[in-house]
Amino acid sequence: MNPSFAHPPSEFLGVDPGALSPGAAHRLLLHCVAPRPIALTSTLSPDGQPNLAPFSYFMAGGANPLSVVISPLTNRIGGPKDTLRNIEATGEYVINVATHALREPINLASAELPYGASEWEFSGLTPVPSVRVRPSRVLESPMALECRLFRVVPHGSGPLSGNYIIGEVVYLHLARDVLDGDTVDPRRVDYLTRLGAEWYAHTTPEVLFEMPRPPRV
Ligand SMILES: Cc1cc2nc3c(=O)[nH]c(=O)nc-3n(C[C@H](O)[C@H](O)[C@H](O)COP(=O)(O)O)c2cc1C
Repeated sequence: MNPSFAHPPSEFLGVDPGALSPGAAHRLLLHCVAPRPIALTSTLSPDGQPNLAPFSYFMAGGANPLSVVISPLTNRIGGPKDTLRNIEATGEYVINVATHALREPINLASAELPYGASEWEFSGLTPVPSVRVRPSRVLESPMALECRLFRVVPHGSGPLSGNYIIGEVVYLHLARDVLDGDTVDPRRVDYLTRLGAEWYAHTTPEVLFEMPRPPRV
């Protein structure tokens, strides 16, 4: 590779995360792991109260079965976020794909309302019944994944510790206006993504490109 692309070794700041507070180290990590997709996650409490919240610690997993991971961190006072409580109690949730058009309601849905208070009304988003699980999906989202809990893997303890919720995708909803035949055309989606601090990006057609994989040898 052309060495002019590289940064000289002396021009790196070395960081030992153990020397920082968890919050400070995490803020740096979030600039490194970016841009992240956003899972606008719909759940129900055991007594049926709806909850909606965005999570950018979100990734696809295996194909057999189809799986996804989100991580609601343990909150600032060391307790579980409502989404984690609800998924542990009910085993069901819906991940709605975030788009740029939904950025304001998604931000509103991140409000820390008291347990049982609904971010649906607060954000103005519209619930529609799901097919295989009880929590609703978001009508305004062009893609939604109905999920059943496989396992929660807690990592660490106390405020800001991770809780990896591994779920099996049991049903997909794909809006016809983002489809090209039976597949998704990314130029029609305008995904909303999260970077570090309060930065976001979105995928307008001019930032997208295709790059075929190298041939198998
Ligand atoms: C775009 C966006 C992404 C977020 N991603 C996460 C995340 O991945 N993990 C997390 O713990 N909190 C995340 N948050 C904060 C939660 O949405 C927030 O704590 C919310 O109140 C949790 O809701 P709940 O208690 O109803 O589950 C994010 C906030 C925004 C605006």
